[in-house]
Amino acid sequence: MYHIVAQPSCDNCGGITSFGMTLVYLECQRNSYIRPMDTLFEGENQIISIIVIAISLLFVMGVAIVLFFYFSRRKIIKTELEKATMEIEHQKEVLRSTIITQEEERARIAQDMHDAISSKLNIVSLNANFLLEEGITSDEANKMGDSILKVTTTVLESSRRIAHDLLPPTLQKFGLEAALEELCEEVYDSKKFELEYDISYEENFVSSNHELHIFRIVQELMNNSIKHSEASQITLILKTKENILSLQYRDNGKGFNIEDTQKAKGLGMSGIENRAVILQGDLEIASSPGNGIAVTIEINNEL
Ligand SMILES: Nc1ncnc2c1ncn2[C@@H]1O[C@H](COP(=O)(O)OP(=O)(O)OP(=O)(O)O)[C@@H](O)[C@H]1O
Ligand SMILES: [Mg+2]
Repeated sequence: MYHIVAQPSCDNCGGITSFGMTLVYLECQRNSYIRPMDTLFEGENQIISIIVIAISLLFVMGVAIVLFFYFSRRKIIKTELEKATMEIEHQKEVLRSTIITQEEERARIAQDMHDAISSKLNIVSLNANFLLEEGITSDEANKMGDSILKVTTTVLESSRRIAHDLLPPTLQKFGLEAALEELCEEVYDSKKFELEYDISYEENFVSSNHELHIFRIVQELMNNSIKHSEASQITLILKTKENILSLQYRDNGKGFNIEDTQKAKGLGMSGIENRAVILQGDLEIASSPGNGIAVTIEINNEL
């Protein structure tokens, strides 16, 4: 709606007073009233738009955070699960090695008992029965008596050896260092090899069960050198420092092809491997024809 008003004056149209100009003026005035309202609405819209955008952004950020936590949690759970599975597998491996080692020891002891004790005691029993027979001359009785005495002496010796093998008394009484030194001296006394050894073991570094496994490993390595190597020199170094026990063994004998042995492994080498698993140690065996054998084992007692 347009109104004619007297003496209009306006900044936009420069105060023109003709009728046409008045209309222009009124239009101008109308615009000057309407514009602020438009601007007001535009402002409100902008605020609403900003709020909507902000809420959307917050929502997107919220979803992103939830997704991030969900996936990182899933990743953590997956890693933990993998770690737990590996630990279980490792425990299974240790258990398997322990059982195999125990079975092998049982079989060896049963064999020893059978060969060195049962069969000999059968002879004693036979001779003793013969003594009870009627009409036996005193000469025969004396011979039987002598035979019984000889056999019982060897049986006693064997039973001592078997008991000694089961748990070496020096190991039990004086610990691993003394037991290994005794073993080295026995090998040295055989005058078959030059033997160098350097043993410094911190007492109770590993449990007494584990000490027996370490002793058996060294014993088997030495037995193999005696039986197979034709070496002239053996070196044994065993040290404990901080949390690490390191064992190094070598002979300078004829060596062997490890791959062939892997295929047809005797009880000795597989026993060493099983004991290394029980000890949770890192075992390395290096040998090739003409180059002797070098064995290293590292055990971390914090594992
Ligand atoms: N120090 C060594 N020097 C040369 N050859 C070796 C040595 N140690 C092992 N070997 C080879 O590896 C093979 C496997 O050894 P392992 O101790 O497993 O069995 P073994 O000594 O023959 O029998 P067992 O130990 O069961 O009485 C041996 O037969 C031998 O050929
Ligand atoms: Mg052997």
